[in-house]
Amino acid sequence: MTETVTVTVPMVDLKAQYARIRDEVDAALLRVVAAGQFIGGEECRLLEEEFARYCGAAHACGVANGTDALTLSLKAFGVGPGDEVVTVANTFIATGEAIFLNGARPVFVDVDPATFTMDPSALPRAITARTKLIVPVHLYGHPADMPAVMDVAARHGIPVLEDAAQAHGAEVAGKRAGNLAHAATFSFYPGKNLGAYGDAGMVTSNDAGFVARVRQLANHGGGANKYDNVVVGTNSRLDTLQAAVLRVKLRHLDAWNRERRERVSAYARALDGTAGIVAPREREGCRSAWHLYTIRSKDRDHLQARLRSGGIATAVHYPRPIHLQPAMAGAGGKMGDLPVSELLSQEVLSLPLYPELPLETVERIAALMR
Ligand SMILES: Cc1ncc(COP(=O)(O)O)c(C=O)c1O
Repeated sequence: MTETVTVTVPMVDLKAQYARIRDEVDAALLRVVAAGQFIGGEECRLLEEEFARYCGAAHACGVANGTDALTLSLKAFGVGPGDEVVTVANTFIATGEAIFLNGARPVFVDVDPATFTMDPSALPRAITARTKLIVPVHLYGHPADMPAVMDVAARHGIPVLEDAAQAHGAEVAGKRAGNLAHAATFSFYPGKNLGAYGDAGMVTSNDAGFVARVRQLANHGGGANKYDNVVVGTNSRLDTLQAAVLRVKLRHLDAWNRERRERVSAYARALDGTAGIVAPREREGCRSAWHLYTIRSKDRDHLQARLRSGGIATAVHYPRPIHLQPAMAGAGGKMGDLPVSELLSQEVLSLPLYPELPLETVERIAALMR
C-alpha cells in the first residue's frame, strides 16, 4: 500500500498572498469590470509604463504569457529559418520552443554549476556565422553573468535577449533584470515573484523600434488603423484584468522580494555545514530575485522522499535538461554534450519559498533535512 501524506507546506501559497492584498485586488478587478474595457486600455498602458520604470528600461509591451514574450521577441529580432540562437539547456522548455517556433535552431551551451546560469566561457565555441541572438536565462531568479555575456556578444556583434521569466527584481551591479541586455522577456505566471491571476507576460527594452515591432506582432501585425495588417502577427495581447492585478502586485514586489531574501538567509543559516547539501549562493555583485531556493544533493531523491513524508512539498527544476527532451531533438543534442546541466538535473531540489512562509517552517524543513 502506498502511503498518502497530506502536504502541509506547499511550494507557494497564493491564497495566503491574496489574503494580504484582498482589498486592493478586489477594487482593481471591479474597476476593470465597471469600466467595461477588457482588452487594452489604461490598465495595460499604465502597467507597461510602471513595469518598464521598475526595471529601469525605457519601453515595455505586455503580451499574453512569457512564452509569447520570447517567441515574439525572437521574431522582432529577425530570427528565422537558417539562423542559430545560442542559449542554455538548463531551463524551462519555453526558452527552446521560442527558437523552434521561429524556424531557427537552438545551440545549447553549458552552465556554471554555482549559479546554474549560462557559462560565458562556453560562448565563443558556440557562435557561428549563423548566430543571430544569444539568450541567457536568469534561472531561479539569479542573474546570468551578464557583463561577461555582453562582452562576448559585443565582440561578435550579436544582440542579447534576457529570459527574465523568473527574475523580477534581480540585479547586477545595481541594474535590474529587464535592463541588462538589448531586450528582456518576463512571465507573470501565477507562481512567479510577480504573478498574474492567469497567464501574462512582458517584453522590455530601451529600443523603441524593437518594442513597437513586438507590439505589432502581438496584435495581428497591425498598422496605424485597426484593419491594417502589415505583417503576419498573432493575438498575444495582455489581458486587462491581469494588468490590473499586476499593477497592484507590482507595488508590493520589492517588499515580497525582501521577505523571500529573509527566508533564504534562514535556510542558509539552518543548513550551514550540513553534509551532502550544497546551498545556493549569490555571485558577487548580483542580487537574486530568489524565485526558487534550489539546493544540490547527491542523495536528492531520498531527501525529497523524506521531506514528502514530513508533509513538505518540493520540486525538481528541471528533471531533464531541454537538449535531451524529444521536442528539441531537431537540435541534435545527446547525453554527454552538457555535463554540468546533466549532473544538475540529477541533484537539484527546490524547497518551499514564498514571502508568507513562516520562518519557523524554514527551521523545521532544515531540521528534517539535517
Ligand atoms: C525560464 C522561463 N522561460 C519562459 C517561461 C515561459 O513563461 P510562461 O509560462 O508565462 O509562458 C518560463 C515559465 O515558467 C520560464 O521559467
